[in-house]
Amino acid sequence: MDKKKLTRWDLQQMKDSGEKAVWITAYDYWNASFAEKAGMDMILVGDSLGMCVYGYEGTVPVTMDQCICHCEAVRRGAKSTFIIGDMPFLSYQVSVENAVLNAGRFHKEAGVDAIKLEGGKRVCPQIRAICDGGMLVMGHIGLTPQSSGQLGGFKAQGRTARAAYELIEDAKAIQEAGAFALLVEAVPPEVCDIIRTTLTIPVYSIGAGIDADGQLMISSDVAGVFQAFTPKFVKKYENLAEKTIQAFSAYKEDVKQGRFPAPEHTYKMVEGELEKLQTKLN
Ligand code: KIV
Repeated sequence: MDKKKLTRWDLQQMKDSGEKAVWITAYDYWNASFAEKAGMDMILVGDSLGMCVYGYEGTVPVTMDQCICHCEAVRRGAKSTFIIGDMPFLSYQVSVENAVLNAGRFHKEAGVDAIKLEGGKRVCPQIRAICDGGMLVMGHIGLTPQSSGQLGGFKAQGRTARAAYELIEDAKAIQEAGAFALLVEAVPPEVCDIIRTTLTIPVYSIGAGIDADGQLMISSDVAGVFQAFTPKFVKKYENLAEKTIQAFSAYKEDVKQGRFPAPEHTYKMVEGELEKLQTKLN
């Protein structure tokens, strides 16, 4: 039976009934189809594609056009999964009008179900306007990689009472602005739990502990593809980097040793045609 794509109300119902949602990032057709086959509730086409696909050091260089292209591929690979497009740096910070137009591009050009943007109170006018435009917005607080410079690096957030209080205030403002869900990144579990119980909308964690309405992980981390660094909150379920290098090396050895391609990897000429060709050539 075909998988049924979830709606915001299904996600809300999952929170209300205590069922955890599980989601993962994907950036291309293949990984999107694997995520759908694995039964993910949602897929995020994160701007982490800057690091995971393009090899940038952070997410700041990622453009709208790159995000749209990757969202289109993911949509084709996961037609029955709720897909969230991640708004890249400078696609929503400049003005409310610009934010609505760019959120609209994700929907019109790539067919996403929702967009996500980073920030607390300071992006609430954008969240409200995008929601007024009939779109679904997910908030993202805690470690917000696009402002890692301001945060002093890719560091855990909300570790003091004052910082945690600010995060809780941000979370409340985001819900009030109309977001359908909130992602909390790299904060202590106790703080995420307070946010989850304070808000009525689903609150998801990446690196914010188990007391959330669901968990997000980066696909390249789960599969063990990303090699540059491993955040504390990552659990690698495979080592595809090693397996892929092994496969590439075996292929290289086969070619160098004259073992590939074997007869079974080649095409046969139509019967009698080789003789005709040789006659012609002579
Ligand atoms: O871009 C992304 O994948 C994200 C996660 C790190 C939360 O925003």
